[in-house]
Amino acid sequence: MTPLEHKISQLDPDRMPVHVAMIMDGNGRWAKSKGFVRSDGHAEGVSTVHRVTKLSSDLGVKYLTLYAFSTENWNRPQEEVDTLMYLIGWAIERELPELLANNVKINLLGDIERIPEDARKRLFFARNETAHCTGLQLNMCLSYSSRWEITEAARKLASLAAEGKLDPADINEQTISDNLSTAGMPDPDLLIRTGGEYRISNYLLWQIAYSELYFTNALWPDFSDEDYVDAILDFQNRERRFGKTSDQVRNNN
Ligand code: FPP
Repeated sequence: MTPLEHKISQLDPDRMPVHVAMIMDGNGRWAKSKGFVRSDGHAEGVSTVHRVTKLSSDLGVKYLTLYAFSTENWNRPQEEVDTLMYLIGWAIERELPELLANNVKINLLGDIERIPEDARKRLFFARNETAHCTGLQLNMCLSYSSRWEITEAARKLASLAAEGKLDPADINEQTISDNLSTAGMPDPDLLIRTGGEYRISNYLLWQIAYSELYFTNALWPDFSDEDYVDAILDFQNRERRFGKTSDQVRNNN
């Protein structure tokens, strides 16, 4: 048994997270530490995306949500933005046959119209080609931020109310959830952030209300399969109370 297989054997299959979200941080520092340019870190980060997608699929995680490019990332130097857009388009095209072979469905979350046409076309193509897949749902957050998403939902609901199609008194938590990019999906059980920072960075603010948070110092390109399984093992050792007391949770009432 390899060390990874040994770790996997320690997982409780009945307590797997259904939805894992990830903040992939540390590509730039990884590159700098090796004397490379930042974009080399992003290129290496694509390999980690490949690995975590495969492992999520193998472990039976149902939703994997990756913060690939935030609304705020548009403010990075143009050369870095261009490289990231190129990489995202290239990676999705290269990965498509394997995604299909693994029954992975691609969802695109964010202000996708802002993505340059070439990358956007490849993303839409991958989304269409995998639309029938019933295995892992891979949510790629692109030009995404939580405040953007909540603002969009507020605008949509306000329009419906103004048109007389929605009574403001009928707006509840479900109405809001149904108008976010994650509509119809369960909230993340586990949010993992790599790169040693303890921040949420405008990511899934509504959806992570009761998620378990896991922070690791591993830089994204170094985030190994073992690190991922460690995060799930840690998650499985936590008691999720959703606002209740420990006794209530244990007695299931
Ligand atoms: C954060 O690291 C990472 C990003 C802004 C981009 C993440 C993108 C990838 C891993 C490639 C995307 C590819 C696909 C297919 C989804 P950072 O640059 O902020 O690192 P730093 O904190 O060390 O500077």
